[in-house]
Amino acid sequence: MRKKIIAANWKMYKDLAEANDFFTFFIDKLPKTKAEVKIGTSYTNLWHAFETTRNYPIEIVAQNLHQEEKGAYTGEVSASMLKSIGIETVIIGHSERREYFGESDHILKQKVTTALKNNLNIIFCIGEKLSDRKANNHFDLVKSQLKNALFDLNKKDWKHIVLAYEPVWAIGTGETASPEQAQEMHLFIRNTIAGKYGNELAENVRILYGGSVKPDNAGTLFSQPDIDGGLVGGASLEVDSFIEIIKAV
Ligand code: 13P
Repeated sequence: MRKKIIAANWKMYKDLAEANDFFTFFIDKLPKTKAEVKIGTSYTNLWHAFETTRNYPIEIVAQNLHQEEKGAYTGEVSASMLKSIGIETVIIGHSERREYFGESDHILKQKVTTALKNNLNIIFCIGEKLSDRKANNHFDLVKSQLKNALFDLNKKDWKHIVLAYEPVWAIGTGETASPEQAQEMHLFIRNTIAGKYGNELAENVRILYGGSVKPDNAGTLFSQPDIDGGLVGGASLEVDSFIEIIKAV
């Protein structure tokens, strides 16, 4: 049985004071849940958020890392820097990184390699743009994202990988993939992994859905057989709506 994950991706929202406010109320209201709860916040908040939540069932995760171990890369943060403050998980391949920061499958593959080498777990994002879906190219596109960045991994590496299917057209738009559309793609992803690595491994990989997850659609999405939780943007910024989404598991 795959344990569900509810992960927040705060993106470039919340400074230290705002994050502190959130945690004050969130820790107080956090319900008992079967899900793993994770919060992805900016580099400047990571250490403090980690310290604030260390006695609670909340994992603080990073939103990015650099692919090189160290070097003259002004403004970048390495895997070992994340590890040194207690971070165990990093989001890689978010569509905003692909789109606005030119992160190709090739770079993402390097990031995955570096993260694994440093014993970090990964939430790896994949998902098609609206143009891909309209051209009926969405399955091929998602398959190529998987293949190009992840299919040289060994079976044992997959213990450290969680996938997040985030159709770009549903991110921040208020337009959610229907539970049927999401389930269809999640099953396709699982079958694609099974084709490469076998059924047992594929059955154990957790695949989150992301893209306008809200309290009112979370329950139906999470009850689909191949949806193992959510990666939540906008609705994770408010304590109450994020709590409602956690309760929907
Ligand atoms: P929204 O929930 O705001 O659509 O964002 C989804 C997302 O990009 C999470 O990584």
